[in-house]
Amino acid sequence: MPGPLHFDAHAEVYDRARPRYPAAVWAELQDLGLLRPGIRAIDLGACTGLATGPLLEAGASVDAVEPGPALADRLRRRWPAAVVHVGTAEQVELPAAVFDLAVAATAVHWFDLEVVVPKLHRVLRPGGHFAVWRNAFGDPTVSITPFRERVAQIVARREAVNPQRGHGELDTHAWAARLASSGHFVTTHIRHFSWSIGMRTDQIRDLFTTFSNWEAAEVDEAARAVDELGGQVTEHYVTPLIVLRRNTLPDA
Ligand SMILES: C[S@@+](CC[C@H](N)C(=O)[O-])C[C@H]1O[C@@H](n2cnc3c(N)ncnc32)[C@H](O)[C@@H]1O
Repeated sequence: MPGPLHFDAHAEVYDRARPRYPAAVWAELQDLGLLRPGIRAIDLGACTGLATGPLLEAGASVDAVEPGPALADRLRRRWPAAVVHVGTAEQVELPAAVFDLAVAATAVHWFDLEVVVPKLHRVLRPGGHFAVWRNAFGDPTVSITPFRERVAQIVARREAVNPQRGHGELDTHAWAARLASSGHFVTTHIRHFSWSIGMRTDQIRDLFTTFSNWEAAEVDEAARAVDELGGQVTEHYVTPLIVLRRNTLPDA
């Protein structure tokens, strides 16, 4: 059953298997003036720190929010400079108006946005930003590869039984509209970063194990497909980035 605790149960494989975010995403945040030395950032759904680490390396001080205890433990050991809060984005207690930048990297789809969006408005300083991105594993603008045909067959079989609900990972404009719908934030920037990566059978097995909606038998099938295709495939991925600015609301 897909659920957020999936990641806690696979903390080690997650850290090893998930590709890092493209350097262009970090450069974009820097070019926009949102990521700079001395800022205070909050990373929601930090997992093993794939966003926490580069934020720290860019000179930010970082609070990281992660509900999974094994993940939070790993995060503390790997990135001791981060202040780690064990809890959900909904539950965690945070001081008001102290952060310059909030980020949710491959995490926002887990949040109750009716709770988290107003909370981020409270904890960000006036003029603060909320940056949301994810690695989407499959770029629909690239011609389908033989491996992706096999993946599509597995997904189609699953969705015939259990259709996916809600916005897809690449419905970026729908996500942006949803994040701004309460009026707490205004979308200021949307960009997609496309990239490719060579993956061996063991890497595909590890990566697909980290997907919360993939059963073990489906992961086996995907790994077998890579073997049948020569033991290595090129994957085309895309990272959509949404930047929102904290809105100034009229006094209640
Ligand atoms: C796909 S992982 C992405 C993590 C990380 N930001 C990264 O870029 O690798 C999603 C993370 O969100 C966490 N999570 C799930 N529900 C959450 C919630 N309500 N509040 C905060 N984090 C949550 C999970 O424990 C998991 O670590």
